[in-house]
Amino acid sequence: MTDSAYQKCINPACGAEFDCGQTLFKCPACGELLDIRYNWDKTEVPGELNEFARRWANRDNPLDFSGVWRFRELLNFCEDKYKVTIGEGQTILQQNDAVAEYVDMQPGCLYLQYEGLNPSGSFKDNGMAAAFSHAKMVGATSCACASTGNTSASVALYAHHCNLKCTVFIGSGRIAFGKLSQGMDYGAQTIQIRGDFDDCMRQVQDVCAKLGLYLLNSLNPFRLEGQKTIMYRIIEGLGWQVPDWIIVPGGNLGNSSAFGKAFAELKQLGLIKQIPRMAIINATGADTLTELVNNKKLTWNAGKVQQAIIDSFYADLTARNFSPHTCASAIEISRPVNLKKCLRAIHICNGVVRAVTDEEICDAKAIIGKYGLGCEPASAATIAGLKHLRAEGIIAGDERIVCVLTGHPLKDPNLTVNYHKEKQGKFSNPPIEAPNDFDEIVKLIK
Ligand code: F0G
Repeated sequence: MTDSAYQKCINPACGAEFDCGQTLFKCPACGELLDIRYNWDKTEVPGELNEFARRWANRDNPLDFSGVWRFRELLNFCEDKYKVTIGEGQTILQQNDAVAEYVDMQPGCLYLQYEGLNPSGSFKDNGMAAAFSHAKMVGATSCACASTGNTSASVALYAHHCNLKCTVFIGSGRIAFGKLSQGMDYGAQTIQIRGDFDDCMRQVQDVCAKLGLYLLNSLNPFRLEGQKTIMYRIIEGLGWQVPDWIIVPGGNLGNSSAFGKAFAELKQLGLIKQIPRMAIINATGADTLTELVNNKKLTWNAGKVQQAIIDSFYADLTARNFSPHTCASAIEISRPVNLKKCLRAIHICNGVVRAVTDEEICDAKAIIGKYGLGCEPASAATIAGLKHLRAEGIIAGDERIVCVLTGHPLKDPNLTVNYHKEKQGKFSNPPIEAPNDFDEIVKLIK
């Protein structure tokens, strides 16, 4: 443990503090979410962000090679001996003019941050590097998570690496095949619950409390510390400048929460001058955040969030027996656990929230596949959302935009094959049936 970090309840009326040696996940005093806070004067934080670039020269040091721990002074909650890395965060920021044209942005203005290039194929590995380091620090031997698929894949991979026993809870029939295959292959015990992600999330919290398992969902504040580094790498990719906007899909709202915290800290430390704006994109079939923020006008309100609005919204979901549905199964979530931290991030980043249809998601995904490196459906919600925000005039065509592509295209091959083969969308590219005949085949080649 270092004395430079501690845990603190986000509820200003409580504000209870705990040391980082404790395994809590929620404030034991009031039940709210916990943050990791830093005594910055006890850490040697570089005077300028570009000083981190020096670490590229030491790629034989695993902590310098890691795209998470390369920025370790900005998440200084444990000693180096506990730090876990499997080479996460070697991701790229790609400028993409063809996708820019699709969303009516000027050339040179749109960037795609490919988090699918992580070892388990999604952004989750950033968070797991940090959370498993905490798990090692507190001596955990067994861990669990609920998941729409990517968390389970990432947890299973890191648990195996750290020698922890691992159980993952998934909603039966609710996760993409690539992700299901990873959990099994990496040796996790997979519990398929007859329910959706929100049911799994409730169960895993109770099971972890009862059996003393280490919880790896984004309720775990150490995970979000690792996810902050996605923003540092974007700034790095832009030559140590901040973009005008970050666009991110919204599911359990861990990323948006982590990104807002990252920017608030960088500003506080004087490492950036301007905080970018953020757009969080839901799928219309799982749009709790959109409903609460845009229609019910829920805000952070200096931490005094109007709980009654949330309670009545959730009571209505329960009364209607509502279960979320979207082809972007990664974000098929109706009770996001990080809702309040996300409201704080919206406040920090002057954020906006939008919801996009499954059809818009699938078309955007096909465009990212055709002109970029591809992504899974949830990630494509960012481009679909950007198209809305351009049409509304909220984002100008010459602003600098970064869309976070959270997962790899091979995570959900079924959706991709169906889109193309069944000619489901505007950009379908189906295979052509051909006889086993040379001349006929030659005639078909365009
Ligand atoms: N994109 C992908 C590919 C995801 O897997 C997830 C979440 C999100 C976006 C949403 O991120 O929760 O930070 O708002 N997947 C979780 C899981 C819920 O279990 O794999 P968020």
